[in-house]
Amino acid sequence: MRDSTDDGCGPPPRRRSAVWWFLASRLQRRLFLAFSAVIVVTGLVASLVTGVLSEQSNWRPRRTRMEHFAGARFAEAWATPEARLRLAAVVANDLRLRVELRDSAERPLLLQAPEGVATAPCERPTLRTRVVDARGVTLGEARFCDVDHPWGPGRTALLLLAVIGVIWKMAGGIARRMARPLDDLVTVVRDIGEGRLDRRARLQTHGHSEFGLLARVINDMAARIEAQVAAQRELLAAVSHELRSPLARVRFLLETARSEEADVSARVAAISEVEDELVGIDALVGDLLASSRMDFHAIQRIGLDATDLAGRALTKAGVDLAALDAPDEALPIVGDATLLMTALGNLLGNAERHAAGVRALRVRRDSATVRFEVDDHGAGIPEDEIPHIFEPFYRGSAAGRRAGAGLGLALVQRIAASHSGKAWAANLPGGGACVGFSVACESATPGVVSADP
Ligand SMILES: Nc1ncnc2c1ncn2[C@@H]1O[C@H](COP(=O)(O)OP(=O)(O)OP(=O)(O)O)[C@@H](O)[C@H]1O
Ligand SMILES: [Mg+2]
Repeated sequence: MRDSTDDGCGPPPRRRSAVWWFLASRLQRRLFLAFSAVIVVTGLVASLVTGVLSEQSNWRPRRTRMEHFAGARFAEAWATPEARLRLAAVVANDLRLRVELRDSAERPLLLQAPEGVATAPCERPTLRTRVVDARGVTLGEARFCDVDHPWGPGRTALLLLAVIGVIWKMAGGIARRMARPLDDLVTVVRDIGEGRLDRRARLQTHGHSEFGLLARVINDMAARIEAQVAAQRELLAAVSHELRSPLARVRFLLETARSEEADVSARVAAISEVEDELVGIDALVGDLLASSRMDFHAIQRIGLDATDLAGRALTKAGVDLAALDAPDEALPIVGDATLLMTALGNLLGNAERHAAGVRALRVRRDSATVRFEVDDHGAGIPEDEIPHIFEPFYRGSAAGRRAGAGLGLALVQRIAASHSGKAWAANLPGGGACVGFSVACESATPGVVSADP
């Protein structure tokens, strides 16, 4: 994969500052950034709307009219200090305002406060008006300060800051809460990736949310991987064990054949036993290969004739062709010839090894499937073993101490499933067992990738 910073064609990558990377690299920080942006935009919009509304609420003209009114009243009383004082006292008490009068040179003339309120200069007036006489000459200025609501811009800014601080803290908390489940899931996935396959996401903390769904999917995936790895380990252990015994026997037989005391017939017998062991090893490796081909979905489907396939399997197993019980007409199927031959070989091999030989290999058309069944001359399969014989590594009482991993019928079942069929076993009324599998006539298994062009 190419690094976004490497030298290559196309426009050069945009340079981002370290702060940008810090803020944008984690979901939690990104959410916090988004919340902050929303808060700022909301604040701007709110102040804009408030400004527009206050403009439209007729407040400014009313204020101007009030200033004119106050200026006119004080202009009438300006010439007489007693009248000025009376008017200031009336305004202060009736309107609960501090009143400050200044002359034309800005010198204080009078300070008046409502009764019970200390007099003080009017630093931040709620209203201020020039007092002008009839000829337009400025006599002075009248200032009015609110007594009950001394709410300055400093306090407003402080309140605003406090509100923004609380909202930002909450935004941080919400962003953390929203991002935490994802952090949990990342930790679990990383642990699974590092080989701790028993790690699981805690579902109760994620509930029914999308995170809960993701946690469930991750847990299912981890459980499947854990089961598969355990099965692979079990298979490896079983196969290693199954290969060691015949190999040890082959070595012993070769030493026997090589020994100077051994006569020709003993050597021939040893070599023929080596051959038998090699056939067993070959069968085991064949089963493993077939199994891994299905693991990798490497199934090569071609058109086949079921009767012809059964005949070839009998010949390969060294069984008389008279055992073939099939209709005269061709039975076309679509499937993987090697896998189907392996499945038939396993059934025939079982009949030979566990059941005193093959009685018949039956091939029948059954609606949309073709059935292959092997009847044998044995004592049958104990009823309590029948539900288990298709499980991997299961070996029944008929196997005795004979070599084998217990994989043959499990493989038959997988091969049947990969050809949209199934496998079964039953005891025959007249003695012996009947073990078989079916294959869909036009096999098209969903989920299995065909290697056919
Ligand atoms: N025709 C049969 N008659 C009686 N028992 C059978 C027959 N076929 C299978 N079984 C029983 O089913 C068990 C499972 O068979 P499977 O083919 O899976 O394993 P296996 O033959 O023991 O070993 P492998 O096939 O790996 O060499 C056998 O061990 C045997 O007990
Ligand atoms: Mg077998």
